[in-house]
This record gives sequence, C-alpha cells and structure tokens, in this order.
Amino acid sequence: MKPLNALSIRCDGGSVRLLDQQALPDEERWVDATDPDAMIAAIQALKVRGAPAIGVSAAICLALLAERGASTEALRACAARLRAARPTAVNLMWAMDRLTALLDRPDAAAAVVAETEALFHEDVALCDAMAERGAALIQDGEDVLTHCNTGALATAGVGTALGAIGRAWAQGKRVHVWVDETRPLLQGGRLTAWELGRLGVPCTLITDSTAAMLMAQGRVQRVLLGADRIAANGDFANKIGTYGVAVAAAHHGVPFHVVAPWTTVDPDCPDGAHIPIEERDPAEVRGAAGAFGAVRWAPAAASVYNPAFDVTPAALVTSLVLDSGVYDRAALQAGVLRTLPRRGP
Ligand code: MRU
Repeated sequence: MKPLNALSIRCDGGSVRLLDQQALPDEERWVDATDPDAMIAAIQALKVRGAPAIGVSAAICLALLAERGASTEALRACAARLRAARPTAVNLMWAMDRLTALLDRPDAAAAVVAETEALFHEDVALCDAMAERGAALIQDGEDVLTHCNTGALATAGVGTALGAIGRAWAQGKRVHVWVDETRPLLQGGRLTAWELGRLGVPCTLITDSTAAMLMAQGRVQRVLLGADRIAANGDFANKIGTYGVAVAAAHHGVPFHVVAPWTTVDPDCPDGAHIPIEERDPAEVRGAAGAFGAVRWAPAAASVYNPAFDVTPAALVTSLVLDSGVYDRAALQAGVLRTLPRRGP
C-alpha cells in the first residue's frame, strides 16, 4: 500500500500507527495497530475515534491484512469483527461493506488495497468540501460553539465542523470558539482545545453545562458540530450532550449546524429511533478511567448509565452541511437525504 498520512493515522512499510488520542494533549504517543486485534482494541479504547477516522483506520487494517496474503474467508471474518468494534458511527460499517463487496473478485487483495487508498483520499477531499461550505456560514467576529472533537484528529483530512471553523479563521474571519469539554471522555477539553491551539484559533474551554447560559447572554452566534450517523429523515446521533446543545440553541434562536460527509448518512436508517447507541464502561462516569489513571469520585457501586451518543431530531437542525451541499430543516424533513448519491465526492 502507498504511504498514507493524516494527523492521527500513519500507514507505511506495511504497518499502521495511530496517534493515541487517549494520551493527548500532554503526550504525542504513536501506537501500532497493524494487527486487527490491536486495531479493534484501539477503536474501542478511543485511541482512534471520530466517525470518519475509525472507518478509514479499520479499512487500512483490513487492506494490510489483504496485502499480507490473508484468505478471503479470513478477510471476511476480520471485516466483520472490525465492523462490530463500535456500534453508532456508520462510517465504520460503510467502510467495511465497501471493502467486503470486493472480496469475490479474483484480484481481491489488490482491489481492497486500491479501494482503501481511494477511501482515504476521498475523506480528505470530503473534509475540504465541508470546510468550504461550513466556513461560508460563519461571519466575521462570531463566537461559535462546538461539542466533542470534529477536527483533523477525527478524519483523514482537516475535519468536519472544526475543519469549517479552521477554514473560516484561515480566510481571515475573526472567530472565537467556545469549546464544550464534553463529559465524560473530554474530547473537547483534551483534543479540540489542542487542535485549535495548533491552528492558532482563539478558543475558551467551558464545562458542558455552561453552554446554555452563554446562549442566554447572547454570547454564542452559531453552533457547529459533527455527527456519527444521520438517519434518512435528518435525525442524527452525535456525542452525548449534543441534544442538550440543540435544545438550548433552538430556545435562544442560535443557528445550529451539523457538518458531516455523505459517508455519515445512513439512508437505510429511517429515523433517530433506529440508530444504535453505544453504552460504555460505568468507570468513565464514576471517575476518570483509561489514560487518566484510576481516579474515582463516585461510590464504587454507584449505578451508572453511560450512553456515548444521543439523538437530535431534524426539527432542531438549522442546516446540515454535507460535502455536496447545505440542506436546511425543510429539505431534510422533505426527505432530501433519501435522494443523495451514495458515492462521492
Ligand atoms: O466517541 P467519539 O469520540 O468517537 O465520538 C465522536 C463524535 O461524536 C464526533 O462528534 C463525530 O464522530 C464527528 S467527527 C468528525
């Protein structure tokens, strides 16, 4: 496979390494995820995360296995395991399905490798298209609020919502970003603050519960965030806390934009009620787990409900910024997503 380089994914010499997103921002540690078991563990531990990035990473892992001469049966079994590593972001399923569709061909290994390279470069181009469309919505001098991490770490390119914010800044618009810290795994506090710092975009970190108050005070002009799965009717799943931001934005008349590539749209999913929602380890809520070390503040036996995502109805979306165009609430509710082509850009 030809070398592939993204901010958080590096593939060369027959191996793939991931920038461990659980170790950021203090440590830039690269971990090898060439072995499918290591890739699955990395996806589940959120060492690689963000809807497009997990699809691209899993694809690279499968392509490298194909390149090493694995049988069609082994590739099919591995794709099924990678596909099931996390349940909500549809990009993972889409990437695995796109590659397994090639496995009956006589040149399956070469086809999977070529398709993976194409998929990686497509994601870069999709990010660019979203960045342009999203940046056009942002006005000079605006305070923009975002949730979770939707930047270069989460994709093969510049990102989705954060890519658009970065593009607006690069165009010379004076933007300031309110960064929701994003409980419980702090993708905003750890990753978005780190990325905006690298880009030089002014930003202020807030607790998730500060967002509504800032809107009430007129200190948020626009919300831009991403999605993990968008149903055919425009309802979408994104990081837990997104729905609350959407409700607050609607109450205060703040435009609320979802920025995502077409690979995040699931036309087979009729509405938000059909999106599978991942539930994660109670330890993430009882305290801080993983690379944070074992800190616990809740009683060890406290009952916990820890959904990783929530669903926001299309009725609360001002517009969906896809790579192919900007679709307003009326278009979403009229079913525009059912009419989009399934390949791009
Ligand atoms: O659990 P995560 O960190 O993978 O969740 C990621 C998100 O919710 C992002 O907002 C989404 O994937 C869009 S990323 C371009």
